[in-house]
Parts: sequence; structure tokens; C-alpha cells
Amino acid sequence: MVETTAIRGRLLSFRQAPAGPGDSASYRYIEDGLLLAEDGRIAAVGPHAELAGRLPAGVAVAHHPDALILPGFIDTHIHLPQTQVIASYGARLLDWLETYTFPEEQRYADPEHAARNARFFLEELFRNGTTTAVAYGSVHPASVEALFAEAERAGAGMIAGKVMMDRNAPAALTDSAGRGYEESKALIRRWHGRGRQRYAVTPRFAITSTEAQLEAAGALLREHGDVFLQTHLSENAEEIATVRRLFPAARDYTDVYDRYGLLGPRSLFGHCIHLSEEEQRRLSESGSVAVFCPTSNLFIGSGLFDLASLRRPERPVRVALATDVGGGTSFSMLRTAAEAYKVLQLGRQNLPALAAFDLMTRGNAAALGMEGEIGMMEPGRWADLVVLDPRATAAMEHRMETVAGDLEEELFILMTLGDDRAVRQTYVRGRPVL
Ligand code: GUN
Ligand code: ZN
Repeated sequence: MVETTAIRGRLLSFRQAPAGPGDSASYRYIEDGLLLAEDGRIAAVGPHAELAGRLPAGVAVAHHPDALILPGFIDTHIHLPQTQVIASYGARLLDWLETYTFPEEQRYADPEHAARNARFFLEELFRNGTTTAVAYGSVHPASVEALFAEAERAGAGMIAGKVMMDRNAPAALTDSAGRGYEESKALIRRWHGRGRQRYAVTPRFAITSTEAQLEAAGALLREHGDVFLQTHLSENAEEIATVRRLFPAARDYTDVYDRYGLLGPRSLFGHCIHLSEEEQRRLSESGSVAVFCPTSNLFIGSGLFDLASLRRPERPVRVALATDVGGGTSFSMLRTAAEAYKVLQLGRQNLPALAAFDLMTRGNAAALGMEGEIGMMEPGRWADLVVLDPRATAAMEHRMETVAGDLEEELFILMTLGDDRAVRQTYVRGRPVL
């Protein structure tokens, strides 16, 4: 028997990247819409008046009057073992890793700790309206096992990988080129393409991997055509200087990864703040994705992401948006969009509300090559949805009094003032998960 679910409210879904404010051709908005899902996938989307007749007898409609319903948010860079690192005081990247992050990640040697935190992690994502995340585990395969197992139970699709580190980290947190390869390969075999789960080969960054390990990461990509790669690139000045010292033969930081075949359309590079023209050209040519992590970049004091430079039309780099918890300070993609706006303001750039909401949904799906699966409310996609209340707090309600039906203004208020309090419900495969 087909399981049908029905959700009614104001439906908003992007079709393409908005050209700028006012680009109403970039999205579809239905004031009183109905979404029908069958066995977790969207079967139909349209005006309630037109679709209500197609409702099978006995199917209850989840009605969210006044709320805005969008595809669930997608977070393209987040660390599972940093849910208790978030909000750690006073350090920049390399000290922050050593002082807070490496000690905490050692606790994930205990599979029970990993399982408990994976549960929290997933619930916290759902509380924030995020239905798919690209996550770093710890070096321990059990951390990734725990996350995939929880996601599978919830029906959600995650992309994750165990961190590979074979130098410049505590002994308890290092694998070796061979062991990192074998453990990653075993996880790929077990989880990549199992239901909705996907694997990301995850060398942490150039500083914590030997040449042999980066070589092994490249081999994993060659041997498994459709796995992802995630790592960090050009976040902080001290980090970049260290990479230069460790890889004297490489032209620049990007070239370190390039030499081992790690660039490409399924490769996600966190941060990308201090890239040269040449590096941006290589990222563009290879179809790689630069992941903008604004709350992290501000909190760790790393620098300002240069969206306009990355998107230069003659060599556009694909861009995604992410929280980077626990360097990042919020699980909320709404908060993240608000900070992205502020970072761009400091660089005399901007982020219109339409562009921000497109990025959090369809845009991030496209960066993952998954726009056929998630990020849009179109037939065939998973019915992963977020229901947003633009009047969730007193300040939002008060501000909304001045908005007379302007959707873009409402979205800008939502992203500027909103957070998990604005998430009224999250659906995964058409089922409520809050
Ligand atoms: N670079 C290497 N590891 C990390 C990490 O865990 N967080 C951030 N923000 N940068 C990194
Ligand atoms: Zn990170």
C-alpha cells in the first residue's frame, strides 16, 4: 500500500539561482498550496483548490496556516564530534583545534558516546529545519556508523565520512595512510548508496595528512566514482603558512589537493577565504565547490569570504553555504544566512533574501549534484520540508506588522531574526520529525 501524506500552507520552492532581488521567475510560490507525498517522495504540488480533489479518502491534511513551507535546509559542512566544542572561547584555528577540538574528538573512541551524540546531532539538525547535512565524523569509524544508523532510522539522507589524519594530531586521533584508507573503504562499502546515505572521503586538511595519506584519499575517489570529498582549504593565515612549509613543492594550498586528484565536482572545500587568482581558477576549472561558513569564519577570526571574487563570471567557482559547527556558532541555517549577509556587507557585497533561501535549499542541493533528490518541491524529490513561522518571536511579530504581503521582505526578516524558534515543524520523507 502506498503511504500518502498531505501538507498544506504557503509553499515556496526555487527553480534556479535568483538573478537578484525581485527575480520572481526564480521561484514558485503558492499562497494556499498543497503538497502530496507518496512513500516519502513528492507526488504533486499545487494550489489547494486544484489538488484537494486528488486526496485519497482518509488522508489527513497537516495544515500550517500562515506558515511558509520550503524544502528542508541543507548544511554542506558540519562536524558531528563538535556539538560540545561549539562556543569555546578565545582561540584561532590551530590553537582552537589543539585546545578544544582534538581533546573532545578523542571521546568518540567510545561508541556509546558517539551514538548518544549522533542522536543529539540529528535531532538538533531537525529542530533547525535541516534535513540533509554533509558531516565530518571523528577519526573513529564508529562515529560515522552512529550517524548513518541514526539517519537511516529517521529516513533522512546524510553525507558523512570518518576523518583521515596521520600526522600533527594526538596519537589517539591518528590513523595511518593504510588504515585510513581501509577504514574509509569499509565504510564506503557498508554505507555509500545504502538507502539515502552517501559517503564523503574526509582528509581533515593538508596539515594533518602526509603525502601518502592524500595519495590514499585520491585512490579512494578513483576507485569509487561517485563518493564525495570534503576537506578544509585556506581558512587562516597561520594554517596557510604551515601548509607551505609542509608541501614546499606545491604551488599553493589548492595545488596540494590538486596533486593528489582531490579536486572535482563532488569535492567540497570548507572556507576558501584567502585564495589567489590562480587557486580560484583551478577550483573553477575542476568544478570544485567552495563552502562559505560565515559564523565560523567570524567566530574563529579567520577572515571574510569573497563571494564576488569566487563567482567572477570568467571563472565562476561553485559555492555552498554551511554552519561549520563547532567552529561555527549555530546549527541554524537561518542564522548562518544572516551572518553571511553581514560578512558580505563588510566586503561591500550583498546577499538578497531570495539568494539566501535558494542557497540553503536548491543551491546547496545543486552544489552536491543532488537537485534531482532534494532541495526543491517538485515531483520525484524527497518530501523533506521545513515549516517556518515568520512571527515566531515577539520581535519578529512586531516587525512583521509593517510588512504588507511582500514575500522578499518577509524572507529577509526570517533570515535576519529567525533561528530554531522559527521552525514550527520539520518533515523527513513526508513525516513530521519534531
Ligand atoms: N581545519 C581543520 N580542521 C578543522 C575544523 O575542525 N574546523 C575548522 N573550522 N577548520 C578546520
Ligand atoms: Zn570544518
